[in-house]
Amino acid sequence: MVIMAAGKGTRLKSNRAKVLHEIGGRPLLAHVIRAAQQVVPARDIYVVIGHQAENVRAVVEAMGSQSVLQAEQRGTGHAVMSARKQVFQYPNILVLSGDVPLIRPETIEQVRDFHLAKKAAMTVLTAEPPDPSGYGRVIRSGGDRIEAIVEQKALTRAQQKAREINSGIYAFATGPLFANIDRLTTDNSQGEFYLTDMAALLGKKNKVLALKAGDFAEILGANTLGELAALDALLRARKSSQLMAEGVTIYRPETCVIDCEVEIGADTVVEPFVQILGQTRVGSGCRIRSFSVISNSIIAADVTVRPGCIIDQSQIAQGALLGPYAHLRPGSEIGEGAHVGNFVETKKARLGRGTKANHLTYLGDTEIGAGANIGAGTITCNYDGKNKHTTVIEDGAFVGSDATLVAPVRIGKGAYVAAGSCITDDVPADALAFGRARQEVKEGWAKRRREGKASDK
Ligand code: UD1
Ligand code: CA
Repeated sequence: MVIMAAGKGTRLKSNRAKVLHEIGGRPLLAHVIRAAQQVVPARDIYVVIGHQAENVRAVVEAMGSQSVLQAEQRGTGHAVMSARKQVFQYPNILVLSGDVPLIRPETIEQVRDFHLAKKAAMTVLTAEPPDPSGYGRVIRSGGDRIEAIVEQKALTRAQQKAREINSGIYAFATGPLFANIDRLTTDNSQGEFYLTDMAALLGKKNKVLALKAGDFAEILGANTLGELAALDALLRARKSSQLMAEGVTIYRPETCVIDCEVEIGADTVVEPFVQILGQTRVGSGCRIRSFSVISNSIIAADVTVRPGCIIDQSQIAQGALLGPYAHLRPGSEIGEGAHVGNFVETKKARLGRGTKANHLTYLGDTEIGAGANIGAGTITCNYDGKNKHTTVIEDGAFVGSDATLVAPVRIGKGAYVAAGSCITDDVPADALAFGRARQEVKEGWAKRRREGKASDK
């Protein structure tokens, strides 16, 4: 199998190679490779790379497939020529386009089976979308047979009406393909070797057939950022429908952004304007309230994420309560039934079962046991300008409001830290630590000031 992915994607007007642009949170090419790998073994897939080859190669290799360099991108026909050495040993090959990302494995199999059953030299997957503009048109000569594929720019007046488009997905018998591929010319508006010209070239002596896809949406290409956004919307709508079919409630799904690989358990409710991204897994019975952005995190069952939370690379245990407006940065591990409340920021912080940090707090490089209470405005001072240090707060400790804990420091089991304290030394278990100036009261001072008689004393 060959996947053509070397082009720049000039029409995107972007510096990034087209096949690296993402829909559904995954590069276009990754969608195509994933579909292909459900049809043939990963090692039998050769991706033709060229533009931003190293970045594209990384995607290919991470998925266990092979890449072939097309150093100069001289057209789709030239892309297949570039892979000749790798694929001519196979009697038949499938050719996919790296920018036709919604293709389903079942459809690729249909092309293969049809091609083999009909003993065709070339089979083209076609479709009839409502708007065929921009695509090459398939001109049939009768029945399944194709006379030619004509690019939009080269359509004659009579051909303008042709509505059947070329999907950019093909099957070839390699014998006739490579016996004739060198006859392609660059005699066209782009000055490129068009793979599509193989239809007319092979058609004279061999069977060149069309197979029309049932669902045109599958073969939509992504050539402009507008088309990319449309495909992204389509993919996410599919994802939401799938989740809803599995028992997830999504209010106003059209406002939510849920990546392809996200998993969500039944009876979870996702409110409008939520983003759930990357490899996130959400358990059942959760409620994810509006304006939360969750990426690459694991959330157990029965968790409530109140509005406006940002959760990245973190783990949340069952029954925890987050937000509103909590910021869980990478490495946050929130224990069972723990609370992380309004304007609390955590980073590499572990909170034990039932621990509460409800308001206005920063917990960084911190390990907190079970049942601890972190008062409003508590700050772990984890950074000394050079290094990061750890704060340990043991089970059942009570940290009063507005405490600053200067790491490295340990608050022992069941200990108390008085409100407003700056704690620089370890506090033993069950102790009370004050770290603040003792209060002074000056009787009558305010009254004297109002009367213009105040002095310092
Ligand atoms: C191509 C087809 C067109 C079809 C459409 C479907 C040709 C000449 N035209 O047009 O009939 O309707 O796809 O989406 O094939 N690529 C390379 N090397 C190159 C050039 C392109 O690997 O030298 C890759 C691109 O990265 C892309 C794919 O081939 O993934 C298709 O190329 P693109 O330029 O997008 O072709 P279209 O103009 O869309
Ligand atoms: Ca294209």
